[in-house]
Amino acid sequence: MRDAAPTTITIRRPDDWHLHLRDGEMLAAVAPETARHFGRAIIMPNLVPPVVTAAQAVAYRERIMAALPGDTRFEPLMTLYLTEDTDPADVAAAFGEGIARAVKLYPAGATTNSASGVADFDKVRGVLETMAEIGMPLCVHGEVTDSEIDIFDREAVFIDRVLKPIRKAVPDLRVVMEHVTTQDAVDYVRDSHKNIAATITTHHLIINRNHILAGGIRPHYYCLPVAKREAHRVALVQAAVSGDRRFFLGTDSAPHTDANKLMACGCAGVFSASVTMSCLAEVFEAAGKLSALEAFASLNGPKFYKMPANEDTITLTKGAPLEVAPVLKTAQGDVTVFDPGFPLHWHIQDET
Ligand code: DOR
Ligand code: ZN
Repeated sequence: MRDAAPTTITIRRPDDWHLHLRDGEMLAAVAPETARHFGRAIIMPNLVPPVVTAAQAVAYRERIMAALPGDTRFEPLMTLYLTEDTDPADVAAAFGEGIARAVKLYPAGATTNSASGVADFDKVRGVLETMAEIGMPLCVHGEVTDSEIDIFDREAVFIDRVLKPIRKAVPDLRVVMEHVTTQDAVDYVRDSHKNIAATITTHHLIINRNHILAGGIRPHYYCLPVAKREAHRVALVQAAVSGDRRFFLGTDSAPHTDANKLMACGCAGVFSASVTMSCLAEVFEAAGKLSALEAFASLNGPKFYKMPANEDTITLTKGAPLEVAPVLKTAQGDVTVFDPGFPLHWHIQDET
């Protein structure tokens, strides 16, 4: 049933369960954009060099906090980058001490700064078994990297070739399939009843591959996994608005300077942190499911990560179209803000 059409909605403060904050000057520019609306975020570890050890996660967390005002209530939830040399004892200690909330698996070469990722999955079996024992989630970039697999098929092939074998070998491992982009992934998560969830990004709810490629190439919509055909986007929207607790928000907001996006071999990533909540309200409203926004953005994620929902709330009010600055200025250069291609009417009150 579609909702009646409310013009204001109050929800528990949302969290972002997949976020790239980078480091240095870029971190300083983008961290406040997330902290303005979100209570917590799972912070991706794909820095150069990557965040591999507990000690590196502690140091990175300190740099994030230093980039935010002293009175911020924003809490970064750190992750460790899985390599073939990762020490299970270090991972277990980091989880036990609350330093790291999850481990991130990048297949080697899958995306930005993933060269130190995993090529031989047998080499990480011990870490995965330790994580299963202690209940620590594995966040997975679910794409195979083989050059002979078509880029639009890499997620579906990953499920069969990599994810199913890992989950069969270590059934108690709690897995988050990150930034799902296909009906195949949605079906796989829906059909698996234990120990799996999926994050969905803002932009994959809004764009399909035509937005990137038809009528001129639009590098600001290029990310990995790349957006697929329209039927897949529709499947993602249905999953997001369904209220199903296995699906929750992970923006994958991933800033790159325009100089690095607009080149012959441009970087993958969409920077959406600043506009995500307004974009989501439009998507959920269009689906007649604004009432499901809170589950997707604020409740399902904490449930999977076994954390309480945020106590405080934000209020979204529908009004005149927002005037969104098209770029975020950073000391490294401009970063283009995600343009959903339609006006945004939902204003977020209580921006602290
Ligand atoms: O588009 C992407 N950008 N996908 C990823 O997996 C990584 C991210 C980044 O770090 O820029
Ligand atoms: Zn990411």
